[in-house]
Amino acid sequence: MSIKSDVLSILLEAKGSSVSGSSIARKLGISRNAVWKAVNNLKEEGYFIDAATNKGYCLGLKNNILSEQSIRQYLKAKTFGSKIDIFKTIDSTNTFAKKLAQLGAAEGSVVISEEQTAGKGRLGRKFFSPSHTGIYITIILRPKMPLEKSTLITSCAAVAVAKTIDSIANVNSNIKWVNDIYINDKKACGILTEAGLDFETNTLDYVIVGIGINVSNESFPEALKDIATSLFIESHQPINRSELVAELLNNLEKEYYDIENLSFLQEYRRRSNVIGSDITVLCGNNKYDAHAVDIDNDARLIVTTDDGKTHALNSGEVSVRKKC
Ligand code: BTN
Repeated sequence: MSIKSDVLSILLEAKGSSVSGSSIARKLGISRNAVWKAVNNLKEEGYFIDAATNKGYCLGLKNNILSEQSIRQYLKAKTFGSKIDIFKTIDSTNTFAKKLAQLGAAEGSVVISEEQTAGKGRLGRKFFSPSHTGIYITIILRPKMPLEKSTLITSCAAVAVAKTIDSIANVNSNIKWVNDIYINDKKACGILTEAGLDFETNTLDYVIVGIGINVSNESFPEALKDIATSLFIESHQPINRSELVAELLNNLEKEYYDIENLSFLQEYRRRSNVIGSDITVLCGNNKYDAHAVDIDNDARLIVTTDDGKTHALNSGEVSVRKKC
């Protein structure tokens, strides 16, 4: 850890109280001048730090910059977040995480960025990822399960994300099969899961789960404004993004290590905003109307079509048809 990180940890621990330069210097075994330099570096990075004569340095509670230290304050998970890489900007946390996974990164390694310049969504779409307003995070997993069961991971992640959003922002979120989190009929979060195969054994080598949450956006560009929302817009309260990340990792770890007993599916079904609705299914170039009946134990969407047939959907995109 650098002096700057150590100083930040001490100021975070003080939770809004002042800490004198000399006590920080003593704790870290450095000069007061080195503390002063570290504080200036932190200020340049955007931290609001008050410095009062005879009182010392105080990190304002309104600070909302993602740092490893600020996340660790709230992190209870043991494996998820055991290694955290944080960037100010990156093309895509999924792209970077994939490289780390291919180099052998351990399960639970996490990549986070304050901004993505080429955030990836499903079906080749872009994910809107402006600076400092969202959570853009990818978690590397090494699941010991057959490829065909790996879709369960996305559904399990969706449950963990929905629970986290509800507890931190005090809202009631839904899940739109397969991987979107909705609040009041607008999308607040998307999940993109990608996998790497071990071709020799035909088993999963790694899975990366990329999660993008709109947190403090106050508005959206024209193309998104009718379909997207943020936790701030829905809850009218400022959200501590470090706490949100840590709680997400805590919940995700809990759900993921319990995935085999499938208990998350009950919660997934309860939160579904699709079951019982007339929907339009988009599957490759195929588009058709159907009725969503249930979600089965492989997290497939069970639909019926007008010809009376029942289908189990593994992938694709659905939209709920509005009643006339
Ligand atoms: C979707 O809505 O279609 C999925 C969006 C997934 C976005 C997240 S943000 C973090 C991670 N990195 C990416 O490039 N995409 C995922």
